[in-house]
Amino acid sequence: MFKVINKIEKGYELNVTLVFEDQVKICEYASAQNKKLIEKLMKKKEFTGKKGEVLKVEFLEGTYLISMIFVGMGKEESFNLDIYREVMFDVLSKEKGTVLISSENEALLDYNVLGEIASNINYSFDTFKEKKDEVLNIELFIPGEEKDFSETIFLGEATDIARDLVDQPANIINPITLSEKAMEFGKEYGFEVEVLDEKEIEKLGMNLLLAVGKASVTKPRLIVMRYLNGKDNDEKIGLIGKGLTYDTGGLCIKPADSMFEMKSDMAGAASVIGAMCAIAKGKLEKNVIAVVPACENAINGNAYRPGDIIKSMNGKSVEIINTDAEGRLALADAITYAIRNEKVTEVVDLATLTGAILVALGNITTGVFSNSDEKYAMLERSSKLYGEKVWRMPIYDEYSELLKSTVADIKHTGGRMGGSITAAKFLESFVEGLPWIHMDIAGTAFNSGIKWFKKGATGVAVKALYSYVKNR
Ligand code: BES
Ligand code: MN
Ligand code: ZN
Repeated sequence: MFKVINKIEKGYELNVTLVFEDQVKICEYASAQNKKLIEKLMKKKEFTGKKGEVLKVEFLEGTYLISMIFVGMGKEESFNLDIYREVMFDVLSKEKGTVLISSENEALLDYNVLGEIASNINYSFDTFKEKKDEVLNIELFIPGEEKDFSETIFLGEATDIARDLVDQPANIINPITLSEKAMEFGKEYGFEVEVLDEKEIEKLGMNLLLAVGKASVTKPRLIVMRYLNGKDNDEKIGLIGKGLTYDTGGLCIKPADSMFEMKSDMAGAASVIGAMCAIAKGKLEKNVIAVVPACENAINGNAYRPGDIIKSMNGKSVEIINTDAEGRLALADAITYAIRNEKVTEVVDLATLTGAILVALGNITTGVFSNSDEKYAMLERSSKLYGEKVWRMPIYDEYSELLKSTVADIKHTGGRMGGSITAAKFLESFVEGLPWIHMDIAGTAFNSGIKWFKKGATGVAVKALYSYVKNR
C-alpha cells in the first residue's frame, strides 16, 4: 500500500514527478535525448507546474517504456500541506497498480502526508460487495538513509478502524458487537478492555444511559478501555465517545431522510477506539482511559418519554424534553463514571451531537467547546498537523439559562437557537470543574465536502487525539 524506498530497483506502472511552478527539473536518470524530448513537450504544452497541472510523457529508457506524469504544485512561496493533500489526492485517486513518486525538491517528499493519502485512497467499505475495489500501491523515493515511517502507517490503520466501525450498518454493529470489537482491538493493540452490562450499569446508577437504551432489544453496554503506561502520579486523560449504534430519535422520531445516516451516530466511539489503538501501538508513555456509552435509541412501549424526570449517576435530576437529544444523556453518565470511578484528570469527549453544528460549520470543520484555553490550543495544534479543521465555539454562562427546569435540576435541551452550545453547556455541567474539551463531529464524521478525502466515514480526530496525547 505505502512504502518509502531509497533505491529504485524495478519498473512502475507510473512514475510521478512533483515540481514547483517555474522550477521544473527533469529526473536524473533520463538519457540526454529523453531529457530533450521532455523539455520540448513541456514547451509545446506550456507546462510550468501550476497548482494541479499535469503533464503526461512516455519514453523508452533502454528497453523500458517509462510512463511519467509531472505534477505541478504551484509556486514554492505559496505552498502548504493543504495544497499538497488536495493535489496529491486528486492525482493519485485516479490511478491503480504501483506508482513511484519522486521529486528533486525535499518539501514535496512528505511521507506523512503521502502515507495518509495512500491509506485514505485504499480505504474501501466493500465487506458486503462481491466485487472488491482495486488497490493502489504508492512507493515514495527518498534517496539517502532509510526512514522510519511506521507511525504514519499505524495512524492510517487506526483511522481505517474508526471508518470501518462507522460504515458498518446498525444490523451488524449494536452495543454488544461494538463491545466485542473493542475487546478484539484491545487484545490486538495492547490495551485493557472491560465491558459493563445492563445490570452493572444499573448498579452504578447510570440511569440516563439506561433510559436512552431501554427501548432497544440490545441493551446498553459501558465499554471501558484502559491504557496505563505513564507514571502513577501523572495525569490520566479521559476520552469519551458517543456510542449510539443507531438513533431513530426515540418517541420524538426522526423523519426518514434524517434517520438514514444514523448508523454513524457512534462515530465518536469509533474515533476513540481508533485513537486507543494508535496510542497503544505507538507505546506512548501516558495514562489514557477511554469510555464509550454504547446504546441504541429505539422505540417500543418501554421507551423513555418527553416529560420523564431521570436521576443521573452524578445525582442531578434531568427533565427529558426531546428524546432525540439522547447523546448528551448517555455522555453525561459516561463522564461521571470516568471522573468518579476511573479518576481521570481531564475530559475530552467526541460526539455526533447536534444537527445545529452542521448548520453552523457544515461538513468541513469540527466545532470544539472547551473550558481551558491551554487544552484547546493543544488540540488545535494536533488537529492542524493532520489537516483537520477545528473552530472554537463559545460557552458563555448566559446559555445555561436556557437549560433551567421548573421540575428538575436541569433540562436537557434549550430549544433551536444555539442548539450546539446548549448541548455543550449540558455536558459541561457534568465535568465537575475538570479541564474539558467537547468536539461536536456531527458534520465531520461523514465526508461530503472535503476535497482531499473520500466520501463516507472519515475517522475524524483519530490522528489528532493520538497527537494530543503524545505531545504534552
Ligand atoms: N445524532 C443526532 C445529531 C446528528 C444530526 C448527527 C445529523 C449527525 C447528523 C442527535 O442525537 C440529535 O438528534 N440531535 C438533535 C437534538 C435536538 C432534538 C435538541 C438535533 O440536532 O436535531
Ligand atoms: Mn438524536
Ligand atoms: Zn444522536
